[in-house]
Amino acid sequence: MQNWTPDSWRTKPIVQQPVYPDQAQLAAVENELTNLPPLVFAGEIRSLKAQLAEVAKGNAFLLQGGDCAESFAEFNANKIRDTFKVLLQMAVVLTFAGSCPVVKIGRMAGQFAKPRSAGTETIDGIELPSYRGDIINGIDFTAEARTPDPQRLLRAYHQAASTQNLLRAFAQGGLADLTQVHKWNLGFVEQSPLGEKYQHLADQIDQALGFMRSCGIHPENTPQLHETTLYTSHEALLLGYEEALTRQDSLTDDWYDCSAHMLWIGDRTRQPDHAHVEFLRGVKNPVGVKVGPTTSTDDLMQLLDTLNPENEAGRITLIARMGADKITDHLPALVRAVKAEGRQVIWSSDPMHGNTIKASSGYKTRSVDAVLKEMKGFFEVHNAEGTHAGGVHFEMTGHNVTECIGGAYQITEAGLADRYDTFCDPRLNGEQSLELAFLIADTLKVARGNGK
Ligand code: PEP
Ligand code: CO
Repeated sequence: MQNWTPDSWRTKPIVQQPVYPDQAQLAAVENELTNLPPLVFAGEIRSLKAQLAEVAKGNAFLLQGGDCAESFAEFNANKIRDTFKVLLQMAVVLTFAGSCPVVKIGRMAGQFAKPRSAGTETIDGIELPSYRGDIINGIDFTAEARTPDPQRLLRAYHQAASTQNLLRAFAQGGLADLTQVHKWNLGFVEQSPLGEKYQHLADQIDQALGFMRSCGIHPENTPQLHETTLYTSHEALLLGYEEALTRQDSLTDDWYDCSAHMLWIGDRTRQPDHAHVEFLRGVKNPVGVKVGPTTSTDDLMQLLDTLNPENEAGRITLIARMGADKITDHLPALVRAVKAEGRQVIWSSDPMHGNTIKASSGYKTRSVDAVLKEMKGFFEVHNAEGTHAGGVHFEMTGHNVTECIGGAYQITEAGLADRYDTFCDPRLNGEQSLELAFLIADTLKVARGNGK
C-alpha cells in the first residue's frame, strides 16, 4: 500500500471533526487506546470479507442494521438482546421465506460518532457546538455537555467491548439456536399481525427441523443450527479512534481496523482526496461507501480505484441512500457504470437517510411508506439493469419505539411523542423491521426464481 500509514490521513483535508479544547489530553487518550486490546480479530474480518464476496457474486444477501447512534445512557443487556433478536428474526425471514443465505452485520458495538448538517446549534439565542455522538460530546444543551471530551473515547471503547462480548455470547451460546425461533418474537410484536405471520413461519421452520432431526441432523451435531455470527460495523468518522484501534496482523502483516469488522464512509465524508478515504484505503476490512443523490459517476469510479485497486470481491459495499423520489433517477447511471467496468461491489439499499422529514410537531421522522418506496425503487433498478440487489441497511431497534410513522400499527404523527427515544435519527421499531423483512423476502424469492 503506497505511502499509507495508520496516521497518513492526518495530512489530508478533513470535515466533520470535533474541536477539542485540550489537544494534549486527546493525544494521551489516543495513546492509551493504542495499548488496549483490539475489539475484533483480523481472522474474523477475513471471514466476513469472504462471505461478502458471495454476496457480491449474487449468492447471498446482506442485512445490516442497528441504532443510528448508540448512547451511554441507553446501554443495557436487554437493549442489546432485543436488537439482536430482531436482526435474527429478519435474517430468518429472509433466509427461509426468501430462500437466500444472509450475512448479518449490526450497526452496534462502536456506532457512536455522528456527522451533522451544522457545526453549531442555536436555541433561544444561545449557540453551542452540535451534538456529535456520545463518543465526542453530550446531547444536553449546555456548554459543558457540548464541549468535546477525550475521555469519552475510552468510555465508548469499553462499551463497545462489552457489547461485542454479549453479542458473541448470544450468537454462540444458544440464543441463536434455530429451535428457539419462536422465542425471538418480542412481546409487543407478538400481538400484531406481523407477529402472527412470523409465528406461522416459525412453525414451518419447526416442522423442517423436526424432519431433519429424524434424518439425524440436529443442533447437537450441526453447529450451523445452533449458532450464528453477527458481525459489527460503524461509520469510521472519528479517525483518531479508528487509528488507535488499527493493528498490523501478525499472520499476514496487513493492517486491520480492529474497532469493528466492517467500517463505512458517510455521505458527508466521501471526498476522494480527503482524510476518511485516505484512512480506509489502507486497512483490509470490508468497507462501505454511502452513495447519495450528489455522488457522480466520476467520483464513484475514483473512490473504487482508491479503495479497491485490486477489484477484490467483498471489499466494497455501495450503500445507496438517495431518497424515495430520486432513487430511480439517480441510481441507474451509477449501476451501469459499475457494471460496464466490471467492478466487484455489493449494492445495498439504505432507504432511511434520504427520507428524513420534520413532522409538524418538530420531531425528525421517516415514513415507512417512503422507506418502502425507496427499497422498491432500488430492487426495480437492479432488476432492469440485470444486477444483484445485494443488501439492505436499516436504522432499527428491538424496542417498541414510535419514531417512524406508518407501518402495520399505523404510528401517526401525533403518536411520535409516545416513545421517541433516539439519540439521532428515527429508527424502525421491531414490528416495522419485521414487516420490511417479509416484503424483501417476497422480492428475493421472485428474483431467485422461487416466486410461484
Ligand atoms: C448514518 O448512516 O447514520 C448516516 C449519517 O448516513 P449518511 O452518511 O448516509 O447520511
Ligand atoms: Co442515521
